[in-house]
Amino acid sequence: MRNSVQFLLPQMLCLMLLSFQHEVETKSTIEPCNSSDSCPSLLSYLVPWDSKVSEIATRFHVNASDILASNSLFPITSSSAHQILRAKTFLKIPIFCSCVDGIRRSISTTYTVHAADTPASISEAYGGLVSAEQIKIVNSINGSNPLRSGGTLVIPLPCTCFDNVNNGGTAVYMSYVVQTRESLSSIAAKFGTTISDLKAVNGFWEPAVDPGDILSVPVAACSSATLKWYDESMIVPNGSYTLTASNCIKCSCEPMDITMQCVPSGLAVPCYNLRCKQSNLIIGNECVEHSETACNVIQCVYRGHRGGKILSSTKNSSYLQCPDNVCHRGASCRPFSSYSEDPFGMSPKISSSLPLPVSKASQRTRASNGSLGSRE
Ligand SMILES: *[C@@H]1O[C@H](CO)[C@@H](O)[C@H](O)[C@H]1NC(C)=O
Ligand SMILES: *[C@@H]1O[C@H](CO)[C@@H](O)[C@H](O)[C@H]1NC(C)=O
Ligand SMILES: *[C@@H]1O[C@H](CO)[C@@H](O)[C@H](O)[C@H]1NC(C)=O
Ligand SMILES: *[C@@H]1O[C@H](CO)[C@@H](O)[C@H](O)[C@H]1NC(C)=O
Ligand SMILES: *[C@@H]1O[C@H](CO)[C@@H](O)[C@H](O)[C@H]1NC(C)=O
Ligand SMILES: *[C@@H]1O[C@H](CO)[C@@H](O)[C@H](O)[C@H]1NC(C)=O
Repeated sequence: MRNSVQFLLPQMLCLMLLSFQHEVETKSTIEPCNSSDSCPSLLSYLVPWDSKVSEIATRFHVNASDILASNSLFPITSSSAHQILRAKTFLKIPIFCSCVDGIRRSISTTYTVHAADTPASISEAYGGLVSAEQIKIVNSINGSNPLRSGGTLVIPLPCTCFDNVNNGGTAVYMSYVVQTRESLSSIAAKFGTTISDLKAVNGFWEPAVDPGDILSVPVAACSSATLKWYDESMIVPNGSYTLTASNCIKCSCEPMDITMQCVPSGLAVPCYNLRCKQSNLIIGNECVEHSETACNVIQCVYRGHRGGKILSSTKNSSYLQCPDNVCHRGASCRPFSSYSEDPFGMSPKISSSLPLPVSKASQRTRASNGSLGSRE
């Protein structure tokens, strides 16, 4: 149980936020804070009606490409922002979580009021992440100060950081709006976490949740902290990717083993230094050299970027036993096939147009004591 977390009852929430004068019907998890730092976090968003990716990006004040990346939609083309997502599509929206008046939340999203809007319809547009009551309080909307078409509202969005740590591992926290007929166990199963973890993170002991409650759900994440990068640090949640080095490099967090894999993005941007020095390997590629006594696997790995330059180095690992298949066939320096996850049926037409080979070294996994196995 972490002491910085409190799962507050409505009345306590009112006290805590001071400005809340009316009763708030739903529970949400509040993280007190006292520093000006911010952290990457996620919002769960059930698209309320058919919307273009670009419309959702505008609604939350984030880049469309960041929404695509958080949901593992690739490639990014000029048309991907116009792709229509159907109502009820589940999306993860990436936001920076800051510290406002001693509480973790995001207030960088603003909304321009349209003629037919009500606080309730705006709450619906944000998938219940903000209540009608919160919109009214934060923006001092009342009888003598009604919503005005064309006016601008601040939309306070719930978020938590918890130092980006959960159970000793790197994590990003997602603010999750509980839906009808959901329980803690169904939510835990949906996001690969446990009921006890959800209880600990949210600081409560009763397993009951109600529709509209906002839970903080830990999502395992990859961190560059252990990767010896120069001048760059990055946290990428499980199952998503981030573009870096002027969009030249795509780093994904692989769901199987939560490892960061960085490869050339293949996007139509000028990219240099993608090849490891004194090697014919491109970042993300690996090759196998075998001798009588050992099997050496050489990888070209991304090391961050500095001053517009992409940094990389080779990593040489020795194994007693050669990896299955690869060694026996005498294969060496073979680029692996490209990989694209595709939950919304976007066609992955990257192979033909790619200027560079994109590898997926991550489809192989290596045991620490000498054998190399493949998950394919
Ligand atoms: C700042 O907040 C953290 C986490 O809530 C807490 O552990 C720490 O004691 C606080 N520091 C001060 C000076 O209040
Ligand atoms: C969106 O992308 C632009 C250009 O790549 C960048 O300058 C801006 O900071 C991004 N905005 C956010 C919210 O990430
Ligand atoms: C409405 O809000 C305004 C601005 O905060 C405030 O000055 C006014 O007293 C409020 N009126 C009522 C009826 O609460
Ligand atoms: C990563 O996410 C996938 C689903 O996208 C899930 O099956 C897997 O358990 C997650 N891994 C971890 C370590 O949480
Ligand atoms: C990799 O390491 C092995 C053993 O340390 C060495 O024999 C081999 O030459 C190295 N290969 C490269 C390309 O550095
Ligand atoms: C190393 O290999 C031994 C024997 O094959 C096995 O029992 C052990 O679990 C392995 N250790 C790891 C960390 O994989």
